[in-house]
Amino acid sequence: MASHRSAQLLVALVCCACIPWAACSEIFPQRTPGEKLYRKRCASCHGIDARGNTLKYMSNAKADLTDDTWYNGQGSDAMAMVIENGVFGSMPDNKDLSQEEIRQIVEHLETVIEKSRSLY
Ligand code: HEC
Repeated sequence: MASHRSAQLLVALVCCACIPWAACSEIFPQRTPGEKLYRKRCASCHGIDARGNTLKYMSNAKADLTDDTWYNGQGSDAMAMVIENGVFGSMPDNKDLSQEEIRQIVEHLETVIEKSRSLY
């Protein structure tokens, strides 16, 4: 029993020694609350990068959040409204989230949009 445990410890130690710090943050990323919510509730349609290029919304231009075309109003207040109320027939509402959580999603979305724009 004791040797079993020390073998486990050894494996754990070797693994930790082999993973450089940079890779650690890749494997165990520190996600903000907004990013966690976005991944859980939005990414399946809009994509991790917010370009809307997902199997679910492929070629629906309105699901691309990185373009300059806003069908439901521009700016963080308009985004918060869409997130809370959804879009009839296209996007589910998020009325179960608090205003604080919605604000966190908007904040995350804004950084994602900025990043995506600088990449493409
Ligand atoms: C079921 C798929 C789906 C999910 C889940 C979803 N969306 Fe959407 N979203 C859409 C579609 C489709 C549209 C385009 C609606 C329209 O105007 O016809 C849209 C529109 C939007 C818009 C407005 C875009 C514009 O051009 O005005 C924003 C902002 C947005 N979504 C953010 C989010 C966020 C943030 C989440 C997560 C909380 C989310 N969406 C979840 C499908 C989805």
